[in-house]
Amino acid sequence: MLAAPSVLFVCLGNICRSPLAEAALRARAAGAGLDLLVDSAGTGPWHVGEPPDPRSQATARAHGIDISNYRGRQVKPEDFRRFTHILALDHDNLAGLRRIAPADATAEVGLLLDHVPGLAGQAVADPYYGDDDGFATTWAQVDAAARALVTRLTA
Ligand code: 4NP
Repeated sequence: MLAAPSVLFVCLGNICRSPLAEAALRARAAGAGLDLLVDSAGTGPWHVGEPPDPRSQATARAHGIDISNYRGRQVKPEDFRRFTHILALDHDNLAGLRRIAPADATAEVGLLLDHVPGLAGQAVADPYYGDDDGFATTWAQVDAAARALVTRLTA
C-alpha cells in the first residue's frame, strides 16, 4: 500500500523559515481538503523547544495563522522513515540532510523551491539577520511552494 503523503520542512534553526512553510502547507492543505501530516525541524540544535521567532509569528498572524504553539526540534533519523517527503529550505540544509540520512531512508529528500515553477534550484534566503521584508519574501516563497505541493499531492 502506498503511504499517505507526509511532508517535513527543514531549515537551520526551525524558528524562522520552516515553521512558516509548515504553517502555509497546513493552511493550503486544509483549504483543499487534503489530509496531510506536516511538520518542520532544524538541522541545528540551538532553538530546540523554542517557539518561532517573533517575526515569523507576526508574519503568520498577518495571514490569519497562529504558530505560537509550534516548538523547535532537530531533525532525527526516524524522520527519514516517517515522512514521505523531506524538503530543505536551502542548499546547506539539503546537504546536511543528505549527510545524516540513514541507510534505510525511504523519504524523498529535495529542495523546497524545486517545486515552484521559475524558482527551481533556488534557496529560501535566511531572514534571521535581516529586516521584516525578508520574512514577507519568505512567506511568499513558502506559500507558493505550499500551493504547488497541494496541487502535486492531490493530482
Ligand atoms: P531558520 O533561521 O533556519 O530559518 O530558522 C535561523 C534561525 C536561527 C539561526 C540561524 C538561522 N541561528 O543561528 O541561531
